[in-house]
Amino acid sequence: MMVYRSAILIVGVLVITGGTITLSSWQSPTSPQPETTQTPAQPATASVERASVPFNQAPIPDNEFGKIAEQGKMIFNNPSLYASQYVGNSLTCSNCHLDSGTKAGSAPLWAAYVSYPAYRSKNNHVNSFQERLQGCFRFSMNGKAPALGSPELVALESYAWWLAKGTAINPDEIGRGFTKLSKPAKPADYARGQIVYQERCAMCHAADGSGQTDNNGHVTFPALWGDKSFNWGAGMGSITNAAAFIRANMPYSQGNTLSIQQSWDVALYMDSHDRPQDPRFTGSVEETRQKYHNSASSMYGKVVNGSLLGSVSTPSGGRLNEKEAQ
Ligand code: HEC
Ligand code: HEC
Repeated sequence: MMVYRSAILIVGVLVITGGTITLSSWQSPTSPQPETTQTPAQPATASVERASVPFNQAPIPDNEFGKIAEQGKMIFNNPSLYASQYVGNSLTCSNCHLDSGTKAGSAPLWAAYVSYPAYRSKNNHVNSFQERLQGCFRFSMNGKAPALGSPELVALESYAWWLAKGTAINPDEIGRGFTKLSKPAKPADYARGQIVYQERCAMCHAADGSGQTDNNGHVTFPALWGDKSFNWGAGMGSITNAAAFIRANMPYSQGNTLSIQQSWDVALYMDSHDRPQDPRFTGSVEETRQKYHNSASSMYGKVVNGSLLGSVSTPSGGRLNEKEAQ
């Protein structure tokens, strides 16, 4: 039954993409990366198909491979526990890559897996999948990159490989990255974003953006800015990425209820608060902006409410720095 339904959905997607595309033929080192692409919003029909595209839903097998893939899934959902030496904040990978990294349009692992090796303008070379994973540890987790070939990266890669197994469709058409959001009618605005934040976000993520923990110290709602959140080098620090993520997924379980304008306004508001320093910090905020944040999507190095963003950031690495000091 499941197989039958999947087959129909795949046919639907093929109509949209105009045919099967083999992995090697569409991969191109020059293809633009999610952070720089501006494509118009997908027509409604496409997004319906896109949301339903299956990844490999078979249970992880109970064998030697399966143990490693299962470990990857556990790291993904709880890196502070299973990869603690590389994690400086209290986020999980699945806080941003929803549903254990399977949700289409929320940068799912299965679509990512088949998209590497790929050129990334962020570091100016062709990245392997493991190198891409390293990036999210360094920036999104405000931590440090596990070495290539380390058990943590092998486990995460195994999990991603399993989810991608058998999905021979162009991932860009079926939910890779965060679903692109069209530009707002008016330029994004801090004051309007603040109102959206107070009305639609603060009850979970707290008025000061620091999120919430339960009585056992377990994070119930992740931090959006401040020392427990991603650092200035992370992809979510791009207003373009954040607006897309927020529109599709937030408020939690009420995706697509904010207007496009509200999504951009609140993304700008969120990304106009201080957070841990960019690990590529050169010692000068101005120079770091020039080198790594020279885009309308980044507020790093801009003055907001009289303070220069990035100038009072705590060093990157968060908790890892405390551990080292002990
Ligand atoms: C704060 C949100 C956030 C967290 C936490 C996070 N990521 Fe990401 N991740 C992103 C964003 C945003 C992008 C797209 C970045 C870009 O365009 O530069 C991304 C991209 C990726 C990609 C590439 C996707 C593609 O299609 O190219 C992979 C793989 C990935 N992340 C894995 C991880 C792993 C593994 C972790 C945990 C160790 C993690 N991420 C934690 C936000 C996050
Ligand atoms: C009902 C509670 C709730 C509300 C309201 C809510 N969120 Fe979230 N948010 C969550 C949860 C839970 C997660 C983690 C999702 C997961 O792990 O599956 C999350 C994750 C996020 C993340 C990615 C992780 C991080 O810490 O950076 C961002 C960004 C975010 N929310 C922004 C917003 C914004 C902006 C709003 C308001 C428009 C909002 N959220 C409203 C519960 C909420």
